[in-house]
This record gives sequence, structure tokens and C-alpha cells, in this order.
Amino acid sequence: MNLFSRKTTPLKKLTPENIAVNIESLSVELNNKVVLDNISMRIPAYSITSIIGQSGCGKTTLLNSMNRMNELITDHKITGHIWMDKRDINHKRENVARLRTNVGMVFQQPNPFPMTIYENVGFGLKLQQQYSRRQIDDAIEKALINAGLWDEVKDRLHEPAMILSGGQQQRLMIARALALKPQILLLDEPTSALDPLATLFIEELMQSLKQHTTIVMVTHNMQQAARISDYTAFIHKGELIEYTDSDSLFTQPKHKQTEDYITGRYG
Ligand SMILES: Nc1ncnc2c1ncn2[C@@H]1O[C@H](COP(=O)(O)OP(=O)(O)O)[C@@H](O)[C@H]1O
Ligand SMILES: [Mg+2]
Repeated sequence: MNLFSRKTTPLKKLTPENIAVNIESLSVELNNKVVLDNISMRIPAYSITSIIGQSGCGKTTLLNSMNRMNELITDHKITGHIWMDKRDINHKRENVARLRTNVGMVFQQPNPFPMTIYENVGFGLKLQQQYSRRQIDDAIEKALINAGLWDEVKDRLHEPAMILSGGQQQRLMIARALALKPQILLLDEPTSALDPLATLFIEELMQSLKQHTTIVMVTHNMQQAARISDYTAFIHKGELIEYTDSDSLFTQPKHKQTEDYITGRYG
């Protein structure tokens, strides 16, 4: 019996043109501990990839590699390449601020700034200091529409973001990232703090966002990975064990470790 029902159709044929992120032999050491060991994976554009694995296996570190967040840890050693648009993002001359604009990030706990809804979404645009008030207003409206939040907040844009529910706040965080028109959206357990209805809302939102964005999501919920992601990567103790279309991974895993994990043999 297949426990993992699916409703998406993956891109089957991978060509270099539709690879959004090409990770080549990435290793990451944090405070002298090997956290990721020689990871290579090619993430297809305009699709949803889930990263699954036990707590502490390196999922967040892998996600953080894609916008160079690991460098915020004082003692880090990163080797290997991550190619996006033919540029190696790990290159020392790469513009990290530009990279983080292009690769948006949403965390497990919604973290709105203590500001209004409007200011939260417009925050990154304002920082860039190159847009008129009118352009910023338009971008904020568009981002809120794309995040499925506009109708709920359009009459109270200038109220504090803190008045929103958890699910609304998480969509606000997605809107904040979308306002910068990222090519890639990274989400680290984006629904684990949400109730089932708010979770469903975010899952449906992700399905619509992938038309314009490549989505990489960490989740500890395998049903969620199977339900909404086109591709799934299984990480075990810092190693990439298996990365393939979600159908295959959940129904015919090629590796015993994957099978043990998806059948719940270890947490
Ligand atoms: N700043 C750090 N210094 C040392 N080790 C860390 C640091 N951050 C994470 N780790 C270790 O790296 C491993 C992977 O962490 P993480 O990527 O957060 O895992 P996951 O998201 O899969 O739970 C864990 O063993 C964790 O203890
Ligand atoms: Mg994590």
C-alpha cells in the first residue's frame, strides 16, 4: 500500500538549462565537526524539492549553504561549489547581499519585524534605495497577492504585523521574500509551527509559487514531502543518501537507509 499520495507531476527530463542549483562536492565543517560530507545534487528549476532526514542530519546546514548563511558561524570550513546561473556562489568575489536577494529564506518560526504589515513586506525593497514609493507600493501589493494574503490584510496594511495569526505571519514572511523577486525560495520547516489548515494553505501556496520560483524546503513531515514536492533528498548523518523524484523515493527507495527512514525505523 502506498501511504504517500501525490498530486504533482515532476519534470522527468533534466537538462542543464532547467537546473536551478547545481551543488558539487559540498562539504561543510562547523566548529571542527563535519556536518555535510561531499554532497552533490542538481536541483531542477520551477519545482519543489524537499530535504528530509533525522534531526541533526544537516538539513538546515544544506539549506543555509544555498545563501551562504553558514558563514555567519565564526568557525566554518566550506569546500565545493554551488552553481546558480553559471556563477559559483561560494566564490570569494560573489556579492553576498545580491545572492541573498535572489535566494529568499523563510524559517520555521515566523519572525516579523516589530513594524507594520506594509513595512515588513517592503523592508528589503526600501534597503535597496532604488525604488519610488509607487513602485514599492505596487511590489508590496503583488507580493501579498502572490503569498495569498492580500485579501486578508489589504484594509490594515499599516497595522502591526504582530496582530496576524501564525499562519498569516508565515505567509507574510513568504511575501517579504517574494517582494525581492527571488529565483529561489528556501523554506526551513515552514509549517511545523502551524495548525493543519494554515499548513494546507502554505502547501497550496507553494504549488502556485513554483511556476515562477524554485522551491527547496526542509521538512520533518514525510507525508508533506510526498504530497507536495516533486523531488526529495534524503540526508543521513551529513551524507546525501538518495535524491530523486518523490514518487520513486517514497515508493521504491534504492537504499536501505532511505527505506528504514521512510518506514519509520528511525526517527
Ligand atoms: N554552529 C554550529 N556549530 C557546531 N555544530 C553545529 C552548528 N550548527 C549545527 N551544528 C551541528 O550540525 C549538525 C546538523 O545540524 P542541522 O543542519 O541544524 O541539522 P537538521 O536541520 O537536520 O536538524 C548537528 O549535529 C548540529 O549539532
Ligand atoms: Mg533544521
